[in-house]
Formats: sequence, structure tokens, C-alpha cells
Amino acid sequence: MKNFLLACLLFVLVAAPAMAQTYLDPAAPMEERIEDAINRMTLREKIAIIHAQSKFSSPGVARLGIPGIWCTDGPHGIRPEVLWDEWNQAGWTNDSCIAFPALTCLAATWNPEMSYLYGVSIGEEARYRGKDVLLGPGVNIYRTPLNGRNFEYMGEDPYLSSVMVVPYIKGVQEQGVAACVKHYALNNQEVDRHWVNVNVSDRALYEIYLPAFKAAVQEGDTWSIMGAYNRYRNQYACHNSYLLQDILRKEWNFDGAVISDWGGTMDTDQAIRNGLDLEFGTWTDGLSDGASSAYDIYHLANPYLKKIENGEVGTEELDEKVRNVLRLIFRTSMKPNKPFGAMCSDAHIAAARKIAGEGMVLLRNENNVLPIELNDTQKPTILVVGENAIKQMTVGGGSSSLKAKYEMSPLQGITNRAGSQAQVKWVRGYVGDVSGEYNGVTTGQSLEDDRTPEQLQEEAVNAAKEADYVIFVGGLNKAHNQDCEDGDRLTYNLPYNQDRLIAALAAANDHVVVVSISGNAHAMPWLKDVEGILQAWYSGSETGNAMADILFGDVNPSGKLPYTIQYELSDYPAHQYGEMGYPGVDKQVHYMEDIFVGYRYADLYGRRRPIKYESQGVKYTITPPAHVALFPFGFGLSYTQFTYGKAVLDGNKVSISVTNTGKRMGKEVVQLYIADKKASVVRPLKELKGFEKVELEPGETKQVSFEITPDMLAFFDADAHEWRHEPGEFTLMIGSSSADIHAKVNYKVH
Ligand code: BGC
Repeated sequence: MKNFLLACLLFVLVAAPAMAQTYLDPAAPMEERIEDAINRMTLREKIAIIHAQSKFSSPGVARLGIPGIWCTDGPHGIRPEVLWDEWNQAGWTNDSCIAFPALTCLAATWNPEMSYLYGVSIGEEARYRGKDVLLGPGVNIYRTPLNGRNFEYMGEDPYLSSVMVVPYIKGVQEQGVAACVKHYALNNQEVDRHWVNVNVSDRALYEIYLPAFKAAVQEGDTWSIMGAYNRYRNQYACHNSYLLQDILRKEWNFDGAVISDWGGTMDTDQAIRNGLDLEFGTWTDGLSDGASSAYDIYHLANPYLKKIENGEVGTEELDEKVRNVLRLIFRTSMKPNKPFGAMCSDAHIAAARKIAGEGMVLLRNENNVLPIELNDTQKPTILVVGENAIKQMTVGGGSSSLKAKYEMSPLQGITNRAGSQAQVKWVRGYVGDVSGEYNGVTTGQSLEDDRTPEQLQEEAVNAAKEADYVIFVGGLNKAHNQDCEDGDRLTYNLPYNQDRLIAALAAANDHVVVVSISGNAHAMPWLKDVEGILQAWYSGSETGNAMADILFGDVNPSGKLPYTIQYELSDYPAHQYGEMGYPGVDKQVHYMEDIFVGYRYADLYGRRRPIKYESQGVKYTITPPAHVALFPFGFGLSYTQFTYGKAVLDGNKVSISVTNTGKRMGKEVVQLYIADKKASVVRPLKELKGFEKVELEPGETKQVSFEITPDMLAFFDADAHEWRHEPGEFTLMIGSSSADIHAKVNYKVH
């Protein structure tokens, strides 16, 4: 009896707590679960969970019933399955997805509700496919229109991208899937991305390049973040002590996991010490180099283990990494009661179409050429010209390439919508990229064409002469040196002689509408010769339907540019300083335009003298652009008109009335810009600090108000290393783009 009681006591004291398995109890506090799990893990188990075991997964701890993590690209749809250790297709027949519009398009909606809808929809697809981490969204700032990956990002403005990134993250994470915001930080070009070191002022870093990441962390509560390939302060971003430890962890209190970009880990010691948690994609030559598994030779695998075993490093950093990875696992793969998600649902199709329709930007509409009225009597002849009218754009472009369940081409969308109410004809016009393959996913399209450019142009021009309308669908595509990862564009002009072709079409027909499928600005030497210009982005599965919605007026356009379209390349500030400013010399690129990125630079047009100043020991000379922007940041037309009232300031609240004076329901993006009239540092002429998209019936008026808070007035004081606003006068400007300010009011700070 005594022995039995003793055994019971022992059980209560020793075995029962051990069996309590706090880490498995979802109701227990997260940090207690983490400590409990860590206490149970062996050294090797800890090492195992901080690096990949396959192209897109890391193992959990099977012995403890802790599942691993499965990642997927991102950010426009769920990438098809690849083989365990190869980029090639796994050959699944049930991994086709809905391709959502590219993030430039999402940003162009200027509508956080669209961003949330996007996040929920793509999160549900990720969930259905059993993914725990979605590799996206991307929020690197649009510095040069040559950057091959701009289409995956949200434009040139830190405020717009900060507002738009947050609901995307929330929508994704509500599904039990982590967002992985990328590429942290300063990955603003693809050329030389694996070695270029970015030299940028602290002020530009904090004011321009970091805000969207900060919002993702502090407002979006992103559960993971991806390091960039490039270097900053001569340290690779994936294990960069300034970016990861000083800023991300200490200043922003990030408690999620830092994931390396695939192959972005370069140095074992730095990977150990500088804040990387989870290593993916490090290049190895597979299993042939003698290691039992290629993944064992990752920096955070055997090399790290050896250093611990021989006493070179302790386990403090390891435990910190394990904590961060366990937190990610508990939030995702071990989260109880997750929704099941859905794939290719009607709701996702509707979401893709809606977002695409709200993101397309009508840039020009002379003589109200659009919308094209369809009825049973007129039956116009519509000539569609261009490769992009038929080319599938969801395949290609790098890691965001998808295997879409379907992709409605522009031509199909236009033809379907026109039905019997128009005669739609298509001619090729030019040959661009005839390939249609990425990592084994093929479009199945045969785009080969032996005809010469002259023959193609002649055919198009002859047909244009006969048509009532010409809709030219061109732009860029997802081939290397276009809008594609791992390379930048080579010229600002459209490729494949499209400029010449468009000019010839405009000479042959008075009603030419140019639809640009692209994720980047390009020159438009034919601008004044065509009646219409529609920026249609890469709009995913529903491209053709969304485009037809706009062209034929079922949807009133309300997208606004998330970046400035300049006249020529040298009108972009990054291209003012020769190779030193882009793409860099001797592996060093210098952001000599400092904070004057995008409209902050375009706004200087017309100034006679350069702005000269010195900051942190660096001298800056900002020479104003030679040309006025073709289309300013925030610009976009509607089929209706809006008028603005007077801006009224009441305390810290500025309000304005907006009226729809046209005949159709429409949406307007009311934009608030703020200027500091006099400051101790050089400041931009205006900066976006608020916006709201309002829907108005014909004749309807709505009030839009913005509350002015001190952070909206602040600049980053590099010497003091803090945000600061100075007393004095500010101008609050409300407008429909960065260049169309309708009302101004003074605002005093005492
Ligand atoms: C890209 C990332 C992507 C990763 C995985 C990298 O090359 O830079 O954006 O998520 O590959 O495919």
C-alpha cells in the first residue's frame, strides 16, 4: 500500500507534468507552449526545424507530433507543386489555381477592401492546398521602371503600399496561413540582385523603403518575413544585423519568423548571429556531393551543428530561432479549427474579376472613345491587334508563375462580351515572346509566326483602315528582360517595335485604344495620336472579362496609378547618376536621389535649380526632371466626373465634399497630400498621407474627412535617429492625383 501511494506521488510529481504536454494545448499561452516544446527537443531536432528539408518544406518534430511547414509562392496565386528536390513539376492534376491580378493592379485599386478580399481569397486557396506559409505579398518600392519585379510590388509610395499591404496579410492569416512579406529590404532591382550592396541614407531607408514592411509587422502582424537577396551595409539582407536585429526585432518588436529568400543565405556565422530563423533554397548540387542529404549542408544544418558541438558557438541563438519557428508552426500548421479553404471557387473567380476591374487605370479617353457602346443596331467592327490579346500571362515571370485553371484572354473576353453586337477580328501585329513555359508548366499555346515585322504591320494597318475601332493589346510580358524575376528590362520603350506599330495604326484609324498589359511604366511616344489608353496590368485568370467590363462600360474605371509614368528613362531619379545610381558599379549601387523617389521627384519639374544638401556626410544634388510626367502618381480617369468642394479644417480634421457630376455611378479616390512649408531639412513638395475611395451615384455628394495626426507631419531625423515633426505651417492638399490638387488649407503646428 505504501509503495502504491509512493508511486502515485511520484507520478503526480514527475510523470504527470511531463505528460501535461503544454505545447500541445492550444488553450495554453503561446510562450509557455514554446518553452515546453523547446525543453523536450534534442539538439538535432532543433537544428532540423530551422532549415529546409525539400524545396518548399521544413520538417517539424515528428517524435513530438509537431508538424512541419509547407511554403508556397505567392503572391498572385498558389504555385503548382514541384518535385521534392527539383524545380520541375510534380505532375499533380489537382494543383491548378485561380490567378489573381498582380500586386501592381491591387495597389492601383487604392481600395483596402480589395486588398482584404485578395488576402482572404488567396489564403483560402493556400489553405485548401495544405500550405502554411504564403510567400508574399511583396512591398519593395518602385525605384526604376526597369526593375523586372515591379509587377509583384505595390508601387512607388510608402504610404499607399503600407495601407494596402495590411488587409492582404490579415485576410491570408485569418485562414491559418502565414503571410511572408518580401523582400526585406532594398531589393529594388533584379540585375545583380545576388551581390549588389545598396548604399542609401537612413532617411530614405526609413521614409521610403521601410514603411510598408513596418506596417506589415506592426499593423498587419505578419507571422513571417522574407530576407532579400541583395546586401545592405555590405551584409546580405538575409542575415543582416541592422535590418533584422536592430530594426525588425528591436525597433518593431517582430515576433515572427525570418525566412531566407531561396538561396539568399551566404554565410554560416552571420546566419547564426544576425537574426535569420529559417533557411530555404540554399544552392547545393543535390545529393551528388556526398552529403547524406543536400539539405544537411545548408548553413543552418550540419555546419551550425558542428560549431555547437565543438563549442565554437553556444545555443542561445539556436533557441531563439527555434522559438520563432515554433511560433510560426503553432500559428499555422498546428493551429486548431482552421478553415478548410477552397480552390477555384466561384467566389474566387468573382474576386479576381472585381479586383482586376477596380485596378485597371484609364489613362486617356479623348472624345470619350470609351466605353464602346454596344447595341443591336450599330454592330461596329472592332479590330483587336497584338500578341498580348491572346498570350497567356500567368505562366512566366519567375517564382510568381502559376498553373492557372484557366486564363480568359483579352480577345476572348472582348469577343464574348461583344456577342452578336459587334464584329470582332484579331490580327497579330507583332511577334514578341513565343515561349510559353515555366518550370515545366506550359501554356499549350503555339505562338510561332514566320512573318516579318513589316508583313505583320501591313496586315494590321490594312485591317485597321476597315475597322470602326482598333483595340491594340500590347505592352510587356513575362519573358526574361521584361516583367520577370532575375533580370531587368533593357529599355524604357516598348519592345518588339510596338511603338512603330501603334503609330502606324493611329495613322490608319482615328479610334485607337491602347491597352497596356504590363507591370511597369513605359514610354508612349504615340500618346497624343491615340484616343484611349488603358493600363490593364497582369490581371490573372479573369483578365479578358475584367478588361471587357471596362472597355464596354459594365464597370466604370476607378483605378489610379501606383507609380508615376515619366516621359523617358532619365526622368526617373534613379537614372540621373549614371551606373553608380543604377545598376551600380563594382557591386555598389548608390541611391543618390535619396528621398526623391517617384512623384517626390516628378514634383520638382519646372524648378530651375537643382536641390543641393548634405546629410550624414553625403552630398546630394537633385536635378529636376527634364519633362513633365506623362501621367502622375495617383492619376486615373472615370467615365463620370467629380467635382470637389472647399477643404474645411476643423481642429485636426480636414473635410471636403466630392460630388459626382456625371451621369454614371462611379468611384473616386480622394487623396490627401501634406507639405511642410518650412523645415530644418529638405522635404518633398508633398507626400501622400491619406486617401479614401468613395462610391457616388450621379448627382450624389459625400463628405470625406481625414484626421491629421503628428506622424503624418514627421520626417526621419537621421542624426537623432527618430521621427520628428517641427512646429510651423503645413499645407494640406486634397486632390484626385499627385498633380491634380483641388483644394488646399493651411495647418499650423505650435
Ligand atoms: C524569389 C522569392 C520566392 C522564392 C521561392 C526566390 O527566387 O526571390 O520571391 O518566394 O524564390 O520560389
